[in-house]
Amino acid sequence: MTKGTATSVEHLSEAELISLLDVDLLPRHVAIIMDGNGRWAELRGLPRIAGHAEGIKSVREIITLSGELGIEALTIYAFSQENWKRPSAEINALMALLEQYLQSEMEALIEKGARFRAIGQIDWLPSSAREWVRRVERETAHLDRLLLNVALSYGGRSEIVDAVRRLAQDCKDGKVQPDEIDEAVMEGYLFTHGLPDPDLLIRTSGEARISNFLLWQLAYTEMYFTPTLWPDFRRREGLLALLEYQKRERRFGRVPGPIYPPSGL
Ligand code: FPP
Repeated sequence: MTKGTATSVEHLSEAELISLLDVDLLPRHVAIIMDGNGRWAELRGLPRIAGHAEGIKSVREIITLSGELGIEALTIYAFSQENWKRPSAEINALMALLEQYLQSEMEALIEKGARFRAIGQIDWLPSSAREWVRRVERETAHLDRLLLNVALSYGGRSEIVDAVRRLAQDCKDGKVQPDEIDEAVMEGYLFTHGLPDPDLLIRTSGEARISNFLLWQLAYTEMYFTPTLWPDFRRREGLLALLEYQKRERRFGRVPGPIYPPSGL
């Protein structure tokens, strides 16, 4: 099958989709806003939590696919700071699901060589969920096939505020001079320090917003919005997103053609 010639790839099998991927053009880091669990459940007359439980199956498939393809990092938005405003029954059920996921999935993550890391205000989580988060972080800390960042009680603005607060304190303590501060210094204070910025952001369920996710890191990220609800976003949908990403021309603010001014001037 010739790469880049298919106008519609929707009907292709998974193996055919994989054969179309250019392995040299895969994103290094993929970020995902997993949206639409509630609607998926409501459409079936089920409680919202059934949608979150089904969404975990998608999480599992996308982690496996990412590991197989050699994607270095996956950052998934599991619970935003705004999500604390949901009814307490849903919050409790989500926290229980997170804990259950961590308990049941730790061995599978280890087998896949996936390092788990939580980003966000982890101190706000109930103590038993927090302890499982820290445990799975510890048990997978040595693995490096795939980095799985799970954003929990995460907010992009609060990440930046927290980074600025710590940077200001370091200036006050004389560890950093204000005129030394540049983007690289600032990046060092973020949860994602040391990681390449996401190349691709996927948001499911038809919404086209960033919703306070990775505000600094998404500056030049390619956005992929799909109407598919998160519980239906499985390997095939992951492959379709990657194929769409590979059609994009990433310019990072430049224009095609020679760089101006030409060297030597
Ligand atoms: C958005 O759907 C999804 C969430 C707020 C939670 C996402 C959580 C999971 C997929 C499961 C937990 C994940 C891990 C890693 C354990 P929504 O409820 O806002 O859906 P709606 O917009 O249709 O109401």
